[in-house]
Amino acid sequence: MNSEKIEIFDTTLRDGEQVPGCKLNTEQKLIIAERLDKLGIDVIEAGFPVSSPGDFHSVSEISKLVKNAKVCGLTRANKKDIEIAAEALKYAKRPRIHTGIGTSDSHIKYKFNSTREDIIERAIDAVKYAKSFVEDVEFYAEDAGRTDNEFLARVCEAVIKAGATVLNIPDTTGYCLPEEYGQKIKYLKENVRGIEKAILSCHCHNDLGLATANSIAGAINGARQIECTINGLGERAGNTALEEVVMILRQHKDLNLHTNVNSKMLNTMSSLVSDLMGMPVQPNKAIIGANAFAHSSGIHQDGVIKNRETYEIMNPEDVGVNESSIILTARSGRSALAYRFKHIGFDVTKNELDFLYGEFLKVADGKKEVDNDDLTLMMTALTRKIS
Ligand code: KIV
Ligand code: ZN
Repeated sequence: MNSEKIEIFDTTLRDGEQVPGCKLNTEQKLIIAERLDKLGIDVIEAGFPVSSPGDFHSVSEISKLVKNAKVCGLTRANKKDIEIAAEALKYAKRPRIHTGIGTSDSHIKYKFNSTREDIIERAIDAVKYAKSFVEDVEFYAEDAGRTDNEFLARVCEAVIKAGATVLNIPDTTGYCLPEEYGQKIKYLKENVRGIEKAILSCHCHNDLGLATANSIAGAINGARQIECTINGLGERAGNTALEEVVMILRQHKDLNLHTNVNSKMLNTMSSLVSDLMGMPVQPNKAIIGANAFAHSSGIHQDGVIKNRETYEIMNPEDVGVNESSIILTARSGRSALAYRFKHIGFDVTKNELDFLYGEFLKVADGKKEVDNDDLTLMMTALTRKIS
């Protein structure tokens, strides 16, 4: 069976940048946008143009700069937002307007004090208006995760008729379970008339730590676009992490799904975003965390030294990390110590290693991590003992 493509929609510069403390200036956004384009991203959501003159300017400059990806601007379902987004996107080679409205009962009642019928009308009007400026219109049904499937299907059908080419089904509050989110996508595939004219998109938040799992469940059930951010940045607990989606689809060939992303650039992309946003990456973060390819317990180290695949399911080089690292701690064993000595130029014999390991444990019990300077001191102790 031929592998099908999943479009990667990056919203680091919009949903990611909404995070307190992560605000970027136009120059920084341009650096990230250019790198995202090189990474092989299909759609770059550059911002929310009506939100501020600065954001408008950034979207406009990104539109001029980006060569391959579609450039997208977010709007609410009203004329002013759409007009301003269209203006900001006018230099883009492949512009997309991303418009939408809340569809869950809670949004309809508390945000809009409105009715389901009125929401459908507003959705249709917004898509038709956006369509008068650009061909490529994506519609988001905000809080689709908590929207009743039957009503969601009616909304989707109406906006496809109005011209929407992509239907974004956000789990805005990160509430869904993977099975539930996957079934929602399947339900829409099976019950929305005209669905073959549009692509379903997953946009999942991570409030329960399920954003990536939900996005993958969506793709397995027929979605062909995933919205995500570098390092999983985003409102509250964040969005689906781009690097996780890319590597899951790469490692699980059995899913018959692929992306265009150059995975070897993931590590440097992550560092760039982390540095520019001033948002450190947690060391145990999947794929791009400092510990993602580090081994510190004796049993694991012994296995990895014999054959990397015993404890690693990915080749670090595939995500742009040079090699796996063997970290020396009080839990490390003799083989890790010998390995590290070899790494710094000392081939030690079994007897030497016995002595050095005793010295090593004395140091390791008093420190979190034993470094190369400590190893050199141990070597000096060994030389003194021999001479
Ligand atoms: O989470 C969400 O629902 C959103 C929409 C505005 C697309 O970010
Ligand atoms: Zn979001």
